[in-house]
Amino acid sequence: MFLRSLGLADVAAYVSWGRDRRFCEHAGWTVDRSAAELEAHWRVLIEQPKSDHLRLAAVAGDEVVGYVDLAGAEPDRRELGYVVGPSERWGRGLGGMVARLGLAYGFDVLGLQEIWAEAVDANRASVRILAALGMTEIGRGDDEPFLGTVSYYRRFSIGRTAWEPST
Ligand SMILES: CC(C)(COP(=O)(O)OP(=O)(O)OC[C@H]1O[C@@H](n2cnc3c(N)ncnc32)[C@H](O)[C@@H]1OP(=O)(O)O)[C@@H](O)C(=O)NCCC(=O)NCCS
Repeated sequence: MFLRSLGLADVAAYVSWGRDRRFCEHAGWTVDRSAAELEAHWRVLIEQPKSDHLRLAAVAGDEVVGYVDLAGAEPDRRELGYVVGPSERWGRGLGGMVARLGLAYGFDVLGLQEIWAEAVDANRASVRILAALGMTEIGRGDDEPFLGTVSYYRRFSIGRTAWEPST
């Protein structure tokens, strides 16, 4: 698996995930958006990227299987986000791989000093991924509903010096 820049050829895959109700409910995407709305949304993301929000496609073989976000305006510190789609691909270890590639890109390519991330406590897979990356839990974020339950964000962080020994 590897990360690369998003391209317009990826739009069809991401639009199809927007039609996957289970994926949307877990990822916090609006459910039942039309294909036209989704396509317009992704075209803007790809053609007019924001300088404080880098999104990279995660590719396995010749298929897009996820994406990574490295977001934030600080020069040395960004927030990691990650998804795997569609939901039929979950539970095979891809999420952990995508997130690890995101950390590697942030430290090795962007030269960041710190990467933080947050996962909803009820999103067990995401919490496990962050802990398995060697990130340290640093505190509690806002309350956030997840799949109809009341939950809250758990914040994690890792610095360059903690990352390097594991690479
Ligand atoms: C979170 C997400 C990326 C996980 O992807 P995935 O490919 O299923 O992840 P993995 O297969 O690598 O599993 C990660 C860990 O969670 C565990 N896990 C998976 N589903 C689980 C569940 N429902 N309950 C408890 N643990 C679960 C796995 O066993 C694995 O733990 P292990 O490595 O200790 O065995 C995926 O579900 C997703 O894209 N969700 C929507 C977006 C999202 O929530 N992103 C994270 C917030 S930024």
